[in-house]
Amino acid sequence: MAGEAGTPADQERSEGERLQKVLARIGLGSRRVCEDLIDSGRITVNGEIPVLGRRVRASMDRICLDGVPLSVRPDLVHYLLNKPFGTVSTVSDTHGRPTVVSLVPPSPRVFPVGRLDRDTEGLLILTNDGELAQRLTHPSYGVWKEYLAEVEGVPSRAALRSLREGVELDDGPTAPARVSNPAPNLVRVAIHEGRNRQVRRMCAAVGHPVVRLVRTRIGPLADATLSPGQWRHLTPAEVRALWAAAEAVGLGPSSPDDTALRSGPRAPGGAGPGRSG
Ligand code: URA
Repeated sequence: MAGEAGTPADQERSEGERLQKVLARIGLGSRRVCEDLIDSGRITVNGEIPVLGRRVRASMDRICLDGVPLSVRPDLVHYLLNKPFGTVSTVSDTHGRPTVVSLVPPSPRVFPVGRLDRDTEGLLILTNDGELAQRLTHPSYGVWKEYLAEVEGVPSRAALRSLREGVELDDGPTAPARVSNPAPNLVRVAIHEGRNRQVRRMCAAVGHPVVRLVRTRIGPLADATLSPGQWRHLTPAEVRALWAAAEAVGLGPSSPDDTALRSGPRAPGGAGPGRSG
């Protein structure tokens, strides 16, 4: 019946947008590149391979590239924050302490993905993307997180080997970790478990309590340019890489690559912006 569908613009909105336009908007490539991706069958919409020209509703349809979900919902935001010392990883704090959420825009409301101790610095994701957050924090997805710890004393080879192979904590042994020793009192540790104060407890268990702890990588994400308290939007490619890291569960945990060991926020004891807060 005439009038039911509203204006052409309403109709356009209710019927969604062309898939290649949505893909181009999130930075997958030019319209032409996106059309080629659709043609080659690498894109799925709600599990099905679409025909070129298919219309989608970015807020509802599940769109994947090579099986990895694409973040096409216009309402989702993903921030990468360099958490400063002394902030709490919660949305609000009953003791009035500064929260990580107070460091990013108030709208839309976001929450931290996992948590860092109040005294831990470094990379933290804040988002309103519940599905991605759930994937990144669920232990079975095993996304690697890398930390640089300044420790008391100089760890021996045996201590480093223990950290690498697993140490006995009061809540059970730790899984094998990736460990290196870039300077006498610095230990770089990558773990894929998310136990409470895990790195601090691991280092203490081998006789080297942590003096300072910085998270330098979350799966594929590192950024040595963010100063403490600074944040930025994740790029669409970074969001895709996070999904891919979380989806790689069947292949075992994602692993930090070599660049991970050379980049990330200011290292303890290294050059870089001073501690804030
Ligand atoms: N391990 C810790 O000990 N603390 C953190 O904040 C994160 C990992």
